[in-house]
Amino acid sequence: MNKRIILGVSGSIAAYKSPDIVRRLQDLGAEVRVILTGGGREFVSERSLQTVSKNKVHDNLWDSEAELSMGHIELAKWADVVIIAPASANTIAKLCHGKADDLLSTVILATSASVMVAPSMNQQMYASLAMKDNLELLQKRGVRIIDPGFGEQACGDVGEGRLAEPSEIARQASELFQNNALGGKRVLITIGGTVEAIDPVRFLSNHSSGKMGMALAYASIQAGAETTLVIGSISVDVEKRAKTIFVTSANEMHEAVMANIHDQDLFISCAAVADYRPTKVSPNKIKKDSDKQTIELVANKDILSDVCQLKDKPICIGFAAETENYINNANQKLKNKQCDAIILNDVSNSAIGFKSDDNEVYFIARDGTDKINKNSKQIVAEKIIKKITKEFF
Ligand code: CTP
Repeated sequence: MNKRIILGVSGSIAAYKSPDIVRRLQDLGAEVRVILTGGGREFVSERSLQTVSKNKVHDNLWDSEAELSMGHIELAKWADVVIIAPASANTIAKLCHGKADDLLSTVILATSASVMVAPSMNQQMYASLAMKDNLELLQKRGVRIIDPGFGEQACGDVGEGRLAEPSEIARQASELFQNNALGGKRVLITIGGTVEAIDPVRFLSNHSSGKMGMALAYASIQAGAETTLVIGSISVDVEKRAKTIFVTSANEMHEAVMANIHDQDLFISCAAVADYRPTKVSPNKIKKDSDKQTIELVANKDILSDVCQLKDKPICIGFAAETENYINNANQKLKNKQCDAIILNDVSNSAIGFKSDDNEVYFIARDGTDKINKNSKQIVAEKIIKKITKEFF
């Protein structure tokens, strides 16, 4: 399925979040075009939406210039999905009545795309009987409702009615793009950095954010796999649809992986596992009582290597975070660890790798190397999962 999304932005204070929604949808690999209603324009600038969507914002049903390029019927046909977020009470009421008095309502009538509506309004308005009936009617017609959240509202009220988070809107939209490339398969992914205690206060760790691993988790779930995550230290939201096991140290990660590996079809070792840990963990905070301190380290078990040694091992994919001599080092890792492929990234380049939203990797298998060009980690993850599916399943 293509991922062409129209985002309808209507008149609610939460319209200020719409550029973020555009970004989140783009992270799914979608092309986004925005339709801004008159009410929406009161809360967010056309320029912001045009800049993030990289497309002209559509706003006028009667714009003859627009009709020559992409008028309401072309827009309606172009879209695979139309999401109205925020959807004001008035916009929702118009949809119920099939009105066609502005560009957004007309496109909704003229489209055969899936329609999603994310209501956003004052809690009393949201709780009204008219709104309940309207949303029920839309649901009966096949419109998906992205439920609003509960909390403090811009007007000062507290209750249900605030726009769902942009990440949640994107997550629900993405369910429409699921494929079944890994349907029936089980995938285990390690994610994030490990933390090795020195004393009750200090530890050794690394810069891993978990972004790449979580993007892979998402792509694996989108491909229909039953996905288990062994998660170390991360600074990203956890994918809610996965089975999750949280760990701290490399030893704990090793234990969790070994306890869950036996019925897996695919193991992706994305975690930045500490190669060493302090030989002794001081039970008390180490005091600053001398000019020099030495911490003796002992090697951790290599989780990826150990999984690759299993008799009925799953397909094993490792990562190589390198700063020099990239391809050679990665090929060496492929051989030493005896995995099926290594995904290599250059962590010396801050525009890609560790904390960045983007990545560029090489997929190194025994029979050759493929480059996956720079893109958002989500798109790179999707390409990696596609490549693994093609090569090994
Ligand atoms: N890995 C692992 N267990 C370890 C160390 C690494 O499972 N104790 C996995 C990582 O998840 C990654 C791969 O091994 O998939 C490569 O890790 P990396 O740290 O790049 O390589 P090392 O083998 O540790 O070698 P070096 O640090 O010398 O580059």
